[in-house]
Amino acid sequence: MTAVAPQRTDARKLSAGARVGIPPRQLKFQVPDAPRYFLANNATATTFIAVLSAIFPPGERFFMESVRHFRHQVDDPDLKAAISGFMGQEAIHGREHDRLNEILQEQGINTRVPERFIAAGLRLLERCSPSQQLACTTLMEHFTALLGEQLLTNKEFQSMGHPEMLQLWLWHAMEELEHKSVAYDVYEHIGNSRRERWFAYPLVTITLVPGILASWAWLLAREGKLTDRRDLKAGLTLLFGKRGLISRSLGKMGLFARDNFHPDKKDTRALVAEWRERLFGSQGTLTQQISNPG
Ligand SMILES: [Fe+2]
Ligand SMILES: [Fe+2]
Repeated sequence: MTAVAPQRTDARKLSAGARVGIPPRQLKFQVPDAPRYFLANNATATTFIAVLSAIFPPGERFFMESVRHFRHQVDDPDLKAAISGFMGQEAIHGREHDRLNEILQEQGINTRVPERFIAAGLRLLERCSPSQQLACTTLMEHFTALLGEQLLTNKEFQSMGHPEMLQLWLWHAMEELEHKSVAYDVYEHIGNSRRERWFAYPLVTITLVPGILASWAWLLAREGKLTDRRDLKAGLTLLFGKRGLISRSLGKMGLFARDNFHPDKKDTRALVAEWRERLFGSQGTLTQQISNPG
């Protein structure tokens, strides 16, 4: 598990998750006056990020349920504490993305459509065995960790996003790295089948990707941008170009299939420490907004 020393040393006052470097931070984001196209003033990129935001609440509920199913089998106190931190962080992520989705909805970007598509895809995944569901969760957590790393290191993305809106994504990205190995460590604890991990690729692709692409195209069509070549080119380059947020993440998805895969093989502790300071340090941009400093 990724262990970054918690900022506070009084163990009695720390939650179980905070004790192992995975503190659920109570934040309530305010996103006032964000422009309609809050990423690069571009409809293609913004609607894709809106689709991501829409799929997080049902997606993260699925992650939590698949880990919860095996929680009682875990005896190791550190892994138990990490599971508590993971559950707490994902629950708050889902809540805050729900709030963001309401704001987007009010602005006319209909996030309920991608949310429904993903919820339907996840219902299909729920027909798999609990261990196969957990294998799918570990694959998707690998993706969210890779994406989180991109969001925290991609200067182009950071310079093009609306500053208030960006804070939510940077916070979420950092916490994805803090808890990136928890679901995988639980999966290792129950046996870790490479066959199930391999099978997770087609399962996740078939059940979720068509809904993501269809709802993204639908949102773009509603914006009247589906045939706007300039907008499409700029947005697709930002997302899927050579240094794009998504292409760089997808490029490392193959690591998950390796025999000796473990999320911690990519050491992101320094990146997490840097962003903990930038977001929640003494001068952190979100320090004043947290109601349970840890
Ligand atoms: Fe999350
Ligand atoms: Fe996560």
